[in-house]
Amino acid sequence: MKVLVTGGLGYIGSHICVKMLQKGIQPIILDNLSNANPEVLNRIAKITGIKPILYKGDVRDKMILLTIFSEHKISSVIHLAGFKAVGKSVKQPIEYYDNNVNSAIMLIHSMQKMGIKSLIFSSSSAVYGVPKQVPLTEASNIGLTTNPYGTSKYIVERILTDLYIAHDEWSITLLRYFNVIGAHQSSLIGEDSQGIPNNLIPYITQVAVGRYKEVMVFGKDYPTPDGTGIRDYIHVMDLASGHIAVLENVSQKSGQYIYNLGTGKGISVLEMIAAFEKASGKHIQYKIVNSRSGDIAECWSSPTKAYAELGWKAQYSVQDMVNHSWQWQSQNPNGYQSL
Ligand code: NAD
Ligand code: UD1
Repeated sequence: MKVLVTGGLGYIGSHICVKMLQKGIQPIILDNLSNANPEVLNRIAKITGIKPILYKGDVRDKMILLTIFSEHKISSVIHLAGFKAVGKSVKQPIEYYDNNVNSAIMLIHSMQKMGIKSLIFSSSSAVYGVPKQVPLTEASNIGLTTNPYGTSKYIVERILTDLYIAHDEWSITLLRYFNVIGAHQSSLIGEDSQGIPNNLIPYITQVAVGRYKEVMVFGKDYPTPDGTGIRDYIHVMDLASGHIAVLENVSQKSGQYIYNLGTGKGISVLEMIAAFEKASGKHIQYKIVNSRSGDIAECWSSPTKAYAELGWKAQYSVQDMVNHSWQWQSQNPNGYQSL
């Protein structure tokens, strides 16, 4: 089985490719390297013994899509390519809509032209906006998004829903990822964040390696047990397994499928810092600062639908996630540029 993985050189895509290769599924990667390093291919080869085929190009380029579809018999497409920084999306909304929405439209057009009707889309818990209640189920309200990034994911979900309404022979899966962290346990691949990290885990790891002095804890007066924000952190390899479960169970069956990929457990900022101290054996200094604008107290999933329908559930503990994030960061302090 050959699967086109757009954005396959990125953080999540590279881990999905490893899982696929270990399951005998062949990934064909399309990536424009806008947020990736080609060294990832060598790392995937080190882990799996197989170097995947890479097409260097943009998903918005129809010609490259048609070339790939005519050179390979693609059974399904996993569409990860896109921009993902929430803060940047507020400052550069048009770039975000262009990349995230136009790439999906171009991909669907090309798939239609070549008769490929199976698509798995990387959506986000961001589509739920400010949750009315937790845990979030797939039936919870969506659309009241709080930033252009979340809105771009919501728009693509709507486009794919309309596509399915018009063409119900398609298999369309919307995967809503929660907070993805961790790295492959070999420490050969992981999240290679550039610049000052906006997200909690990359920031804590940068403090642990000594690049920054302390973690800024955004708010301590939320209505949560320790007053800090609670999120559903999921190990990237569990997330990758979720994609395999989709490929094995529903990707060749027509239908529209929507799943949360989370653990169903909420972890606070202070609990995360404590887990990092344990993983790194270092004291992690932190300072309580004002809450971040747009942040919410709690966001965590109910992952029961994915278990009931796909037999998938997250396996890694919070300590595993943090240990693997730390091992990756400490062994590759400058990410893929460490070489
Ligand atoms: P990433 O930036 O590491 O990976 C995205 C990859 O897509 C990169 O390799 C980049 O070079 C490539 N890319 C971007 N635009 C492209 C284009 N137009 N054509 C070809 N390649 C392009 O991000 P990630 O963390 O691996 O996220 C993958 C997907 O999952 C994204 O769609 C993101 O929005 C979604 N997601 C991520 C998280 C998370 O916590 N990381 C959470 C929810 C959803
Ligand atoms: C953010 C995005 C979400 C996206 C996800 C990807 C927002 C509003 N949401 O989620 O759409 O899918 O990233 O991983 O940006 N925190 C600190 N100090 C820091 C950084 C974060 O205390 O330096 C806290 C936050 O207040 C929050 C928690 O840590 O309580 C997690 O934050 P973060 O990692 O940025 O993720 P989210 O905001 O949940």
